[in-house]
Amino acid sequence: MTTTTDTSVLAARFQETFDAAPDGVWQAPGRVNLIGEHTDYNEGFVLPFAIDKTAKVALRVRDDSAVRMLSTFGGHGLVETDLEGLEPGSGEGWSRYPLGVAWALKERGIDVPGFDLLLDSDVPSGAGLSSSHAIECAVISALNDLTGAGFAAEDLVLATQRAENVFVGAPTGIMDQSASLRGAKGHAVFLDCRDQHVELVPFDAEASGLVLLVIDTKVSHSHADGGYASRRASCELGAEILGVKALRDVGIEVLEEASGLLDETTLRRVRHVVTENDRVLQTVELLSSNGPASIGALLDASHVSMRDDFEISCAELDLAVDTSRANGAIGARMTGGGFGGSAIALTPVGQEQQVRDAVVRSFAEAGFTTPDIFTVTPAAGALRLA
Ligand code: GLA
Repeated sequence: MTTTTDTSVLAARFQETFDAAPDGVWQAPGRVNLIGEHTDYNEGFVLPFAIDKTAKVALRVRDDSAVRMLSTFGGHGLVETDLEGLEPGSGEGWSRYPLGVAWALKERGIDVPGFDLLLDSDVPSGAGLSSSHAIECAVISALNDLTGAGFAAEDLVLATQRAENVFVGAPTGIMDQSASLRGAKGHAVFLDCRDQHVELVPFDAEASGLVLLVIDTKVSHSHADGGYASRRASCELGAEILGVKALRDVGIEVLEEASGLLDETTLRRVRHVVTENDRVLQTVELLSSNGPASIGALLDASHVSMRDDFEISCAELDLAVDTSRANGAIGARMTGGGFGGSAIALTPVGQEQQVRDAVVRSFAEAGFTTPDIFTVTPAAGALRLA
């Protein structure tokens, strides 16, 4: 998924493919998470931002329940199906995401008509940058407008989560779709995952002489695999034993006491979540008082916690983080669900090239696939383009 097609070109291509003009074109971004990993489904805090890489959909509703879908990046060719009798688990590849959100809106009582859809995206897939949520958020925005459902962002967040959890079968939280739907240019999204309260926190790395590098390790991951689900199960077990609704309710001061109640692995899982929630709060405070140059140590601590306590890093992510730090980055961590995907490295502008070169070299020396390295800045959330 590496194409970027102009809105008018996409609309023209839709016309050619489906022999009619689209009703409109919508876009939604991928995200990076600055800090707050595996805290969302523990009703805790996260600090992601929408990135300047997006999924775009040209879409037209039909007067029957048929669905026809095509992407600009190949894959499954023209997908033809029907919303009648649509069951969780249907569809393949990216086609599961539009079908999943249509299903979730129907479940909410919306009379969703069939549609023709042309998808374009430059959010790399499997890179931990939420390419699937970018598609879901673009499509749900389109269907929300075209059906007149008029749901607020908070409801769309929950509907896309249902699509992911039940239709696609990935037991994920609400962070990614919240960043994609509620992001704003120049800001990170400080989200309280218990009540969906959002505060937009200015994040202007450039003004502080920094860039945020994304290092896509090319180790592909899927949250429908076992690792993510087993971490979630450990957190739920920990909350149950500690007698709280969610790990959000466990303060750092309780950790020592908790150590007597939990088995060794569960304790480490719990410790990650509890300390990570605290790091998010500290990051928000530091960003407001001292700016991006002050958060490096918290990014580092977050990575160590994910590597050692939550055990969701991998050799490629650790190498990307360690090499970035050794070559001038002021803080670095893996971002997203883990087991592959991307790392982020907050880097002084003058050190950027050195970090890039060193990471590429270290990957070659280790025999790893060449990583993709690029900068990101906080961009707008989902919107209608035409
Ligand atoms: C994935 C999930 C999110 C969140 C992160 C980890 O991106 O989709 O809900 O749990 O992993 O922070």
